[in-house]
Amino acid sequence: MRRIAWQMKELPKEKRELMKRMIREVSEHENSRFDDMEQFMQHGTTTVRKHCINVAHVALFLTTKFGIEVDEEAMIRGCLLHDYFLYDWHDFKIEYLIHGWTHPGKAMRNAIRDFGIGEIEQDVISHHMFPMTPFLPKTKEGWAIIFADKLCAGGETVGDRVNARREAKRQAQKYMRPHLLKRGNATVDGQTNKEERKNADRIRRHGLGIAHAGPGILRRHRVAV
Ligand SMILES: [Fe+2]
Ligand SMILES: [Fe+2]
Repeated sequence: MRRIAWQMKELPKEKRELMKRMIREVSEHENSRFDDMEQFMQHGTTTVRKHCINVAHVALFLTTKFGIEVDEEAMIRGCLLHDYFLYDWHDFKIEYLIHGWTHPGKAMRNAIRDFGIGEIEQDVISHHMFPMTPFLPKTKEGWAIIFADKLCAGGETVGDRVNARREAKRQAQKYMRPHLLKRGNATVDGQTNKEERKNADRIRRHGLGIAHAGPGILRRHRVAV
């Protein structure tokens, strides 16, 4: 399946190396729970860990592209830990209803406890939800993450749906009788199964509504929307 490329592969080689080194450093730190974020979902099928890596890539890409001088190590470390809140906010708990406002503070406290992060990282983490949290960052690194985070959140949400639909359509070709994927056709024996045709219609238009087409599709569909 073709994926939308978030990774900003056009970063210069030395910056890609820096990214890899920082990810390794954060992941292998003695108190790190960075890799635990892989079990929590953020947007669509993107995990929190993957989202944080995406944001770090995009922030580094933006500051490089526009020639903004920043402390790259601190910015990347802040980006990698900006959603270090360590729970699944999709679970139903009363306090998660205000997750959007509370998680920067939670992530910052966790990051201070586990990594002893500095002032720039704290600024990056605590202000990344601006304007939802109405406090402006004090550093350029803090501004970079605001744009990077929004771009990634939008991209991950939309891209995930695009990919899910594309995948569902591709799978549908495998599982469904081909004539049903064409509009307005009756079945081979002249009988039209109303329910089957309704589902085929949905697949053709949205790649959704495919409960009977196969377990793989159903699972994918459930995860994606
Ligand atoms: Fe966040
Ligand atoms: Fe985020």
